[in-house]
Amino acid sequence: MTEVLTALSHQWESAVATTLEGLRDVTVTRRCADVSELLSVADAGLGDTAVVSSDLRGLDLAVVKRLRANRIRVIGVHPADDEGAERRLRQLTITATVAVDAGTDRWQQSLEDGAADVDDLEAALRDGAGRDGASPAEAAAAAAAAAAADEVSGWRPAGAVAPGRASDEPRDAGVLAVDGEVPGRGTAPRPGPERAPVVAVWGPTGAPGRTTVATTLAAEIAGRGVEVLLVDADTYGGCVAQTLGLLDEAPGIAAACRAADQGLLDLPALSRIAPEVVPGLRVLTGLPKAERWPEVRAAALERVLELSRELVRVVVVDCAFCLEDDEELSYDTVAPRRNEATLTSLAASDVVVAVGGADPVALQRFVRGLQELGTVPSGEPVPVVNRVRSGAVGSRPESRIADSLLRFAGLTSVRFVPDDAPGVDGALLAGRSLVEHAPDSPVRHAVADLATGLLPWTAPPGDRRDRRDRRGRRRRLGPGSRSSSAVGT
Ligand SMILES: Nc1ncnc2c1ncn2[C@@H]1O[C@H](COP(=O)(O)OP(=O)(O)OP(=O)(O)O)[C@@H](O)[C@H]1O
Ligand SMILES: [Mg+2]
Repeated sequence: MTEVLTALSHQWESAVATTLEGLRDVTVTRRCADVSELLSVADAGLGDTAVVSSDLRGLDLAVVKRLRANRIRVIGVHPADDEGAERRLRQLTITATVAVDAGTDRWQQSLEDGAADVDDLEAALRDGAGRDGASPAEAAAAAAAAAAADEVSGWRPAGAVAPGRASDEPRDAGVLAVDGEVPGRGTAPRPGPERAPVVAVWGPTGAPGRTTVATTLAAEIAGRGVEVLLVDADTYGGCVAQTLGLLDEAPGIAAACRAADQGLLDLPALSRIAPEVVPGLRVLTGLPKAERWPEVRAAALERVLELSRELVRVVVVDCAFCLEDDEELSYDTVAPRRNEATLTSLAASDVVVAVGGADPVALQRFVRGLQELGTVPSGEPVPVVNRVRSGAVGSRPESRIADSLLRFAGLTSVRFVPDDAPGVDGALLAGRSLVEHAPDSPVRHAVADLATGLLPWTAPPGDRRDRRDRRGRRRRLGPGSRSSSAVGT
């Protein structure tokens, strides 16, 4: 027996409920007046199927996710011949949709299809197809999101450079050029993984250089002719827009999450919200004020990142430092959580570039931070120590730092990014990435090596091994040392 909860706008309420009541093996357990009633009934464990209308006030991605968390499948009702309403339901990851004037056969079929949806998903999870650490409900949302994204997967944005730079200086296609050419541009697309990898750039408190590494990495990849989206998901102090000299009037991530929540985010919309600011590099700017963090909710950000994988070939996310899960501190599992943007980005990532500073205080934080990182779902961590200089730790800083990280964190392979205040400060002042402003900076070279190590397929032909390997300077400190943390190869 299927136990149905309905939440429908009043114009259709009685007609749909009457049809449902007439179906075999179906009981309408509760006819809810609004979203709040629906959620409280679902939380109380009633019902196994929710029938909601596309115009239901307050219906968003978080509501759908919460219903699924209660193991309730969701069917959406839309006006007949209203493609917009049906699309909106699909963008809310509701793939089972029925027109309001559908007959009993169609309804019966949808209720059975809905059951099949959930069964398939559970089988996939049993077979290990679900992401590590993802709940069935999260996987359900992800599967449905993928299905929704498939609808528009044939679409690709035009390559026009969108406005948005604060700088008055005109940019041209050669702006990312090194030695006068744009590597990879105009050549055949590079082979790479089918699914665009998400690279989360994270690091502990103390400003170790997450944003510097994330922006340089994204610009480096774009400069190789591979489309990349840089997402500023730092809800404590996003500054990618300022770093790259962009106007931050449009809070990209808040707008994208709002659209995702309302079921209005598709590839064309995401491409408008995350414009290409230099050739190949799209940016989803961060929150202009940290106090707006509740606008970036997990379900919406998951959807944004999922769609981002369709929009570009690599997604780089600049994350905040804090990994605490407020859910453990509170019984209210529905309230926004301060760190959900960071935790969601890490969980969605294929690899985490974990950035630590190179002085004794920063290194201690890094060791603790890496331990903490090991306790949350995330991609494989790649430790990177930034701002390496002898003034902070003594002579031969790389060797000293590597030895301490081996001793205190058991790290057998660490990457180093040198300190280059003139280069990095100059780029900040100019509102340009290091790749544009100081292409010969040792920081840029170290991040280019990191890019090649993580994503070898982005490297220009004949340059697949990173400089560090070529020079034989890789810190191989023990038997567990890996030769590469390449993603998607
Ligand atoms: N390799 C480097 N050489 C010199 N200066 C650097 C380097 N990396 C970062 N910096 C500087 O260190 C400061 C902090 O860097 P950044 O903003 O990238 O850190 P963050 O971890 O993102 O900090 P926040 O907590 O503010 O997000 C900035 O002034 C930046 O210019
Ligand atoms: Mg930052």
